[in-house]
Amino acid sequence: MVNQILHTLVNEHYGNEGLLDRILAAAHDDGVVLNEARSHDFSPVAEFHIGGRGSTIELAKMAQLQPGDKVLDIGSGLGGPARTLVEEFGIFVEGIDLTHEFCVVANELTRMTGLAGQAKFSQGDALNLPSDTNSYDVVWTQQSCMNIEDKNRMLSEVHRVLKPGGTYVFHEVLAGTEASAIQFPVPWARADNMSFLWTQEAIRNSILKIGLIEQVWKNATCKYIEEYRALASKTGEVSQRPKLGIHLMLGEQSAVMRKNVLENLSQGLIAIYQGIFKKV
Ligand SMILES: C[S@@+](CC[C@H](N)C(=O)[O-])C[C@H]1O[C@@H](n2cnc3c(N)ncnc32)[C@H](O)[C@@H]1O
Repeated sequence: MVNQILHTLVNEHYGNEGLLDRILAAAHDDGVVLNEARSHDFSPVAEFHIGGRGSTIELAKMAQLQPGDKVLDIGSGLGGPARTLVEEFGIFVEGIDLTHEFCVVANELTRMTGLAGQAKFSQGDALNLPSDTNSYDVVWTQQSCMNIEDKNRMLSEVHRVLKPGGTYVFHEVLAGTEASAIQFPVPWARADNMSFLWTQEAIRNSILKIGLIEQVWKNATCKYIEEYRALASKTGEVSQRPKLGIHLMLGEQSAVMRKNVLENLSQGLIAIYQGIFKKV
């Protein structure tokens, strides 16, 4: 697909005006004191991936992040993962995301939580990273690749910007073992024109082909399906759910999107994989 069309689809899907005001109003309604807010207060909306804040911490431990590491978060969303990493691991993050609105909100939530010295976000494309070669200790993609059709190009950018000895951290939604079409809408796409899920064999082979060395490759589907089921039941009903959540971005279709993710996971149509790779 022509890049520009995909860029527009991504911005239309994720970006929506007034998001910051809706997040702050919902956080206030949920009892957050805004001028004392901490990163985790915004996690229900800003950790926009299956597994939430817990999976970010687990992944960082798996990757053995070290204080002072310089991390590039590709597809950084509202900056939830970046702020968690800064707060818990003492690292520095640059986030790149195609959705302009997300970068604006990410920078403001980071300023409000006192972390602006360690995390900043700008609009950019994973296929043309605005970064120098050999410049990051860690490159992080956490459920950021589902809208990316040309994953080989993205991976060659990951390899280019990593320092020798640097780590690529991968946590993605992939195609499952069943070949049938997945049910839409899902949180990353309303239809199949912007969802590009590769099989685990295809993406793993591509990562190895660019010269990265595998340290961990694991199927985390079983672990996350149970967690997701609990979350979906808690947040499915409008009357039951907390004010702060992904419905602030995705609107009223968010409940059906969650239900479809669960169905797709249960039927083996999608899978969750985690990987840690090193650049030599
Ligand atoms: C499901 S969200 C995940 C956000 C974040 N990683 C998180 O876990 O909270 C996927 C993100 O990928 C971004 N994205 C999609 N295609 C991209 C591209 N080509 N370059 C950079 N970001 C992209 C979207 O704008 C969106 O913010």
